[in-house]
Amino acid sequence: MQLEKTTLHIGLEKPVRLLHVTDSHIGLADERDNERKRALAARLSTPEKALYLEEHIAYAKAHCDLLVHTGDLMDFVSHANVEKARQIVADEDFFFIAGNHDYSQYVGEAWEDNAYRMNSYMEMGYGLGVPMFFNAKTVGGVNIVGIDNSYYQFEDWQLWRLQREVEKGLPIILAFHDPLFEESLFQYHLVRVPNDCTYLVGCDEEHLLYYNEFRAVQQRPTEATLRFIDYVKHEPLIKAILTGHLHFNYTSMITDTLPQYVTGGGYDGIAREVTII
Ligand SMILES: [Fe+2]
Repeated sequence: MQLEKTTLHIGLEKPVRLLHVTDSHIGLADERDNERKRALAARLSTPEKALYLEEHIAYAKAHCDLLVHTGDLMDFVSHANVEKARQIVADEDFFFIAGNHDYSQYVGEAWEDNAYRMNSYMEMGYGLGVPMFFNAKTVGGVNIVGIDNSYYQFEDWQLWRLQREVEKGLPIILAFHDPLFEESLFQYHLVRVPNDCTYLVGCDEEHLLYYNEFRAVQQRPTEATLRFIDYVKHEPLIKAILTGHLHFNYTSMITDTLPQYVTGGGYDGIAREVTII
């Protein structure tokens, strides 16, 4: 396991420790799953992925107040993956918000929208047995708020729910799968992964010019998404954002006072220990 350590100063009397893990991409399938899913599992699954996840959970149990997982826990929906994921997220020390792969049937085979997500959600048996679209949990006086933005958008009901969390008056750490647009992260991604889009939420038209048509249509922010981001940037109780999806570590400031931590792939062993004081 590769542990990145981060300290966030927000004026707590007693520190709170989170282990941020994301993109574990567990890839199991068995005789209950069809041949196509078994082939995916054979191609994508490695023993290390499951071992790293076990290691992350054990580390969080020993050293942290909560493990915060920002999605892509599973690589695709299969009987074996759903069974395993349901066991993992049932633990009250494991906080989960979904990523795009948590609803993926065959990894990139379809246009993914709300209908696609709901089909997978129902097939899982009403999701994984914990909230997948919006989740909140208070630990040590800090409110961890998870919001599903796995298809690069936010919806107005999520903003409304976030406002209700803000009313509790506690400092908030936001957790979601896809990072918000920020210029230095955008430029870093362009250099690091040339000829790809950057998968950042809230890109304006000027930045979408770098994208191919499919990715621009997929990731062009809706009005609701822009309203949500604007609210996040101006709400002083929101202290930091934990995200994943990009499979590399990166830290930058969304505003003068709001850091965004992108944490690398859990499948690669990476985790971030965030000490909030
Ligand atoms: Fe992802």
